[in-house]
Amino acid sequence: MPKHPQIQEFLNLLKDLFQKENFTKLSLSKVFKAKNDLNNIFIVPVKLRSEQKLSFTYRYKTKDQVKNYSIDEALEILKELLGESFLQALLISTDTEYQLLVNKKGKAKLITNKTQTHQKSLSHNKEKNYLIKSENNIYLQKLGICDASGRVKDKQQDKYRQINRYVELMSHWFEKIDRSKKLQIVDMGSGKGYLTFALYDYLHNQLNLDVSVTGVELRENLVTLCNDIGKECGFKDLQFITKDINDFTSEEIDIIIALHACDTATDLAIYKGIKADAQLIICAPCCHKQVRKDMGSKSDFRAITKHGIFEERQAEMLTDAIRSLLMEREGYKTKAFEFISNEHTRKNVMLVGRKTDANKNKAEINGEIKHLKTSFEIQRQELEDLLNQS
Ligand SMILES: C[S@@+](CC[C@H](N)C(=O)[O-])C[C@H]1O[C@@H](n2cnc3c(N)ncnc32)[C@H](O)[C@@H]1O
Repeated sequence: MPKHPQIQEFLNLLKDLFQKENFTKLSLSKVFKAKNDLNNIFIVPVKLRSEQKLSFTYRYKTKDQVKNYSIDEALEILKELLGESFLQALLISTDTEYQLLVNKKGKAKLITNKTQTHQKSLSHNKEKNYLIKSENNIYLQKLGICDASGRVKDKQQDKYRQINRYVELMSHWFEKIDRSKKLQIVDMGSGKGYLTFALYDYLHNQLNLDVSVTGVELRENLVTLCNDIGKECGFKDLQFITKDINDFTSEEIDIIIALHACDTATDLAIYKGIKADAQLIICAPCCHKQVRKDMGSKSDFRAITKHGIFEERQAEMLTDAIRSLLMEREGYKTKAFEFISNEHTRKNVMLVGRKTDANKNKAEINGEIKHLKTSFEIQRQELEDLLNQS
């Protein structure tokens, strides 16, 4: 039996939406006492031999497992899981989102948000259904991705795919955070703002979330361009400012994003996120020059690093491994993965940190960082210096 009435209300909602064919998807996250390395469960409606079912994808640490259930079976399973194995659930219908948050004592809160454009797919074959449409999209036109009729230009197909992949990934990470208050999002090194616009559009106009998004960028001409386009689109809570990340201060940051911010700009962005106690830090690092320059040439791994290309990749791995350890030391759970195919760009690693209450053994992590630095004769790492000096 569910311990809190809001959990039962959530299950009744699911049953009702499913029966009216308004159910789009449900995800369970924030593991509490899940067994067997289960990280989350992703549930969508499917039609199997003309019968409506729910398809559960159980995502384990190293594998995914899919099982299909009738609505009654699914409700029984969910009754067991909600508030016991998972403390968070996001139910998405064709026009509304319901977020269930349960605390460790079993007390639940249900948050409702109206949305506009979630599509249903009852097919097992996932069709390409981009979250960011190019039709009637002013910012994609002004940024040169598509023409006035909404056709994506041939040379911009990769960029358009990348924008959509990024928003899709973001939607996954946003399911894991508390969205009951206005979220302050800062995009460090926002450049021409393709991804900043798309993220704002998705969160504000599609999910109806209360968000404020700020792009921080050194180049004034890009900031002016982005602010002009933002005004034309009527995006009131999206702003761009001309500033060095180093000089950016804010009382409150919930999410920090830094995509391909050059070299140590990524360290600065992560540092700002840690200092602001951000819930999420999302970065796609690029050009790891600092560690490469400060890496010795006589380490035990000389056989690897004597080749320029290996040295470059070694510097990338070491930099991001140290960044990840530092984020963990500061209370973040981290994940590193490839976010787009490397046929488009080799700068395709994403490093994500999500703030948790877990207490880490700082001395042990410092030991691991020291071991890496000593082994590869790394004199210094920018993020470590920033954190140690603060
Ligand atoms: C490679 S672009 C990436 C742009 C955008 N994030 C994207 O992924 O499309 C990196 C941007 O970071 C900006 N940048 C680099 N260092 C910065 C700093 N310290 N402060 C603010 N912006 C910076 C650069 O001017 C450039 O526009």
